[in-house]
Amino acid sequence: MANNPHSRDLIFSPIIRICHWLRALAIVLLVISGFYLSWPFLVQYGGTDNLMQGWVRFGHLVAGFALCAITLARFYLYFFGKSDIERRSFKDAISPKAWIENLKAYMYMGHMHKSGVYGPLQYVTYIGLTLVIVVMCITGLILHAHVYHEGIGGAFMPIAEALIPMFGTLAFVRELHHFLTWFFVIFVVIHVYMAVFSGIRFKHNSVDSIVSGYDYHPMKDKH
Ligand code: HEM
Repeated sequence: MANNPHSRDLIFSPIIRICHWLRALAIVLLVISGFYLSWPFLVQYGGTDNLMQGWVRFGHLVAGFALCAITLARFYLYFFGKSDIERRSFKDAISPKAWIENLKAYMYMGHMHKSGVYGPLQYVTYIGLTLVIVVMCITGLILHAHVYHEGIGGAFMPIAEALIPMFGTLAFVRELHHFLTWFFVIFVVIHVYMAVFSGIRFKHNSVDSIVSGYDYHPMKDKH
């Protein structure tokens, strides 16, 4: 394609992509099973031989512990990973010039030059997402410690006891855990929309880069 040359850059390593999709799967399972746990509509009260709630809670915990593990792995990769493509975006997030350029570019007014892989708004949104995930993992572990008093639950109990006063009460921990679930519902919709939008707007293959790892774009970007 001599008259339409494209550039091909590896932007997401295999481990970053695996973490992304495992996290996406865990979050979908957690939102569905979590809402079910709070409103168990499939089995009515009356029998003692139906373990539906227990199985859903089991699934919720497997996905929950997977999310805790991926979150720790992701922290490590962000700070100590070989590629600094994510860390470089911090520079733009604290630059008013980069913010103005970012917001204008979204409104089809000029180019956007990124120091790393994310734009400032995207980077700050992901920091917010990470904070919410950390709160969900902590509140989830507190709830878990109060349901299972042995194993990991029992081991976490002293930490849970120390953390609950910071939230107020155990009841509020549960409410916060439930309330923040809506954040993920809203986030996923906007995230998918923005991924498709930015691919079209900036002529980069933004959605498939998290599958293949590669970013393809015309050598001469016309933003
Ligand atoms: C995206 C992350 C998560 C979402 C969206 C989520 C969502 C929910 C929701 C909606 C509930 C029901 C709350 C209620 O009773 O109203 C719940 C309960 C619970 N969650 Fe999560 N959760 C997440 C992560 C976690 C994690 C990381 C853990 C622990 C490792 C966890 C452990 C629990 C436990 C133990 C309960 C209580 C189950 C019960 O009452 O039987 N969750 N979750």
